[in-house]
Amino acid sequence: MVIADHPITAKAHTNIALVKYWGKLDNQLIIPQNDSLSLTLDEFYTQTTVQFLPELSADEVIFDNERLSESASKRVRTFLDHVRQLAGINFHARVITKNFVPTAAGLASSASGFAALAGAASRAAGLNLNRRDLSRLARRGSGSATRSIFGGFAAWQQGQDDATSYAYPIDEQPTWDIAVVALVLNAKQKKISSRVGMRLAVETSPFYSAWIKASQADFETVKTAIQNEDFELLGHTSEQNAMRMHALTLSSDPNFTYFNADSIQAMNMVKELRLQGISCYFTMDAGPNVKIICQGADAERIRCYFQSSFGQDQVLVTRSGTGISISN
Ligand code: PMV
Repeated sequence: MVIADHPITAKAHTNIALVKYWGKLDNQLIIPQNDSLSLTLDEFYTQTTVQFLPELSADEVIFDNERLSESASKRVRTFLDHVRQLAGINFHARVITKNFVPTAAGLASSASGFAALAGAASRAAGLNLNRRDLSRLARRGSGSATRSIFGGFAAWQQGQDDATSYAYPIDEQPTWDIAVVALVLNAKQKKISSRVGMRLAVETSPFYSAWIKASQADFETVKTAIQNEDFELLGHTSEQNAMRMHALTLSSDPNFTYFNADSIQAMNMVKELRLQGISCYFTMDAGPNVKIICQGADAERIRCYFQSSFGQDQVLVTRSGTGISISN
């Protein structure tokens, strides 16, 4: 194994889960409790450059032009330890990472971040991983990063251990025109991390076993919808799945929610659009931002409708994005 003698750069896009991952079987290895499925988004991505250097006495992490403190860079350094162990090296690394999100408004995600870090750090360390193994590596940083190795529709197979829990592509270049209108409804309150939220759900929600059963069925339904290019089935099932996940936060002890007043207003507006005959569906992750799944032809109309309530900069239209790219 030879470490790269120059910096390696990787670019990975974020993804939105249509069938969510919510709960771990193994907290250390990040093995999920269920299969999940997502669409990679073209507008939001992370670009990360890594070089392992003998002269460094500690890892240096520069995030959006700012050097991170030791505590802020802990997750990245733990991830780098894992890469060093895999590659059998002990040099420290310089990591320069930048999030490309149209506004600085909380749509950046650990998915694109850890996927890009997995790509750049592994190649910089001299590991030449195939995409399946890259997805396994990204998983160690953040569960949702597992799927960001691939473009378009991607699934994360639960598996039962490190070797069998990885993502695979379902349709990397969908020929049907799917769009996502992302509403930036920034959280003022402190967010409960997905790690804490998941643990609460697994340990305290009486609905957890029902969630597992329902999400496995949703996974099969969304896969079929993708195969048949059935937008209604895909959208309806994704919306139901998202609300089933959020029912776990409401039924955890202590209970909590990621919704804010704007999220609820936005969800009602999506239903109003449906009554007007526009086919669109909402989904939400571990924060108040609402993403609206729609067909490309309707995206402009939906964007205008939401801009009139939430403002110009709060509404962003994205489409299917590509998988990870890594420089040589
Ligand atoms: O990857 P994490 O630990 O940030 O968890 C992601 C959880 C959700 O975004 C809510 C669902 C998902 O599958 O991406």
